[in-house]
Amino acid sequence: LIAFFQPKVLAGRRVLITAGPTSEKIDPVRVITNRSSGKMGYAIAQAAREAGAQVVLVSGPTALDAPYGVNRVNVESAAQMQAAVMAEARQADIFIAVAAVADWHVANASDSKLKKKAGGQPPELQFSANPDILADVAQMTPGPFCVGFAAETENLHENAEAKRQRKGVSLLVGNLAQQAMNADTTELILFDTQGARALPALPKLDAARRLIQEIASQAPLTTA
Ligand code: CTP
Ligand code: CA
Repeated sequence: LIAFFQPKVLAGRRVLITAGPTSEKIDPVRVITNRSSGKMGYAIAQAAREAGAQVVLVSGPTALDAPYGVNRVNVESAAQMQAAVMAEARQADIFIAVAAVADWHVANASDSKLKKKAGGQPPELQFSANPDILADVAQMTPGPFCVGFAAETENLHENAEAKRQRKGVSLLVGNLAQQAMNADTTELILFDTQGARALPALPKLDAARRLIQEIASQAPLTTA
């Protein structure tokens, strides 16, 4: 019922969201991944939908159900997430990157299962950089209004503001990784051209609703 009474600040707007971790293949039975439950991204997808938006949620592997009325696209690797995002980004008014994207993939991933050999050495993995999905979308002209996330373990303010400028996004949402990881409440700090502002610590869905209000007030009504 509370959902029904949320102000429809995003009525008719198209919102594209990434959430969850990515999963990078080592071999057919092993992966390298990031720690992300997907809860924050899914809460934002729900809040955007409640606010009247058409929502596409590009999600890495999570244990969560898609929020009601949200169109979920399931992906595993960062490369797949990039492709799914690029297929949707041109139609989006707003892009919110919440996913914990792996920064590297295994360049020498194996098509068959790596086997232990008696007395043998562990495998040597080589890594290659993954695309920066948020930075790529932020460079599109015309492109959606872009919002990034940064979970940092220390120096949150310096790291988050530097990241906002490096990625070229209008709004960057920071939080402390130790607090955010798999928790149900979160304390978000907003970084934009006006500076930094903390939102109160709230359950993730309430924090997501506050953030959607903020994004709706900042995003231009038509794409640039
Ligand atoms: N992001 C992305 N694609 C990547 C890496 C990050 O879209 N390959 C997005 C994340 O979804 C998040 C923002 O960029 O919105 C910041 O991610 P983060 O990992 O904190 O930034 P990095 O630039 O990867 O820096 P680092 O991991 O070194 O702190
Ligand atoms: Ca990263």
